[in-house]
Amino acid sequence: MDGLNDLRGGWLERIAEAADEAALEELRVAALGKKGEISLKMRELGRMTPEERQVAGPALNALKDEVNSALAAKKAALGDAALEARLRGEWLDVTLPGRHRRVGTIHPVSQVMEEVTAIFADMGFAVAEGPQIETDWYNFDALNIPGHHPARAEMDTFYTHRAPGDNRPPHVLRTHTSPVQIRHMEAHGAPVRVIAPGRVYRADYDQTHTPMFHQVEGLAIDRDISMANLKWVLEEFFTAYFGTSVKTRFRASHFPFTEPSAEVDIQCSWEGGTVKVGEGDDWLEVLGSGMVHPHVLRSAGVDPDEWQGFAFGMGIDRIAMLKYGIPDLRAFFDSDLRWLRHYGFAALEVPAVHSGV
Ligand code: PHE
Repeated sequence: MDGLNDLRGGWLERIAEAADEAALEELRVAALGKKGEISLKMRELGRMTPEERQVAGPALNALKDEVNSALAAKKAALGDAALEARLRGEWLDVTLPGRHRRVGTIHPVSQVMEEVTAIFADMGFAVAEGPQIETDWYNFDALNIPGHHPARAEMDTFYTHRAPGDNRPPHVLRTHTSPVQIRHMEAHGAPVRVIAPGRVYRADYDQTHTPMFHQVEGLAIDRDISMANLKWVLEEFFTAYFGTSVKTRFRASHFPFTEPSAEVDIQCSWEGGTVKVGEGDDWLEVLGSGMVHPHVLRSAGVDPDEWQGFAFGMGIDRIAMLKYGIPDLRAFFDSDLRWLRHYGFAALEVPAVHSGV
């Protein structure tokens, strides 16, 4: 029985020093497992005299219980320490400022397209669309633009490439949205009240011209539509678009697909690196317009003896520059993030006529 005290001290010390749960399990097996030191001692009880057993039995049982609870206590302590360490490692300062996420913006061209669409929708115009790669027929011939017209010259128009020996007429990148007039009348006949916003292409590059730009076509065909309706619609549009009536200048002009024709300029100034609408003594041309030529109606299968109407083609980028004071058109398409953040719009600012565009 003297050895029992040493045995107890030895096991309790080793348990206290166990580094982790695996070491602890090894100790349990070595002490209390089938061939553990304490278990073997208990097996010796059988060979003792009843008197010896009466003393040794309770002592061994007490030792076994004590070692068992020491193992359990150490196991709990190791678990606590592990949790403690993990909490320390995953420490988080919830008072730190949040990480800033950059939010994208709506490009001024997209914004203005939405504004234009909202205003014309309010006047009863639907939206029509056509392809950006057009045939000569829709882009030119059907619009009464003859083969020798300067607009067809190689330097203005982008032609698609054909393999040598392929003699089919080439396609063009549409130079204006006017081919949508033909496509729409062909498909739906008269009467018509549509706008057609979209991309157009011309070989041209300076402060107010880029090889790709945006137009919105307007087309209204009925039995008695006149230039007066055109003028009213455009003035109504500009007033809604700029939020105030701005000075416009209607100049007599010529387009092969309208007769008579007029171009419209808007009063502006270019001082101090920004363009301002409604002041100064400069004018920026923003659209071409006129009464649809009878040849054009006929090309689209509409009888000019029964129907007539107006058409216009407006530069979307131009009116975006004017409204938002953007002096250089080329910057629109540079994809410079600083520019986009400065001139861009929040995604939720959806334009609507009732709230003012
Ligand atoms: N298509 C012409 C242009 O791009 C604009 C226009 C459209 C003129 C409709 C008259 C009628 O310059």
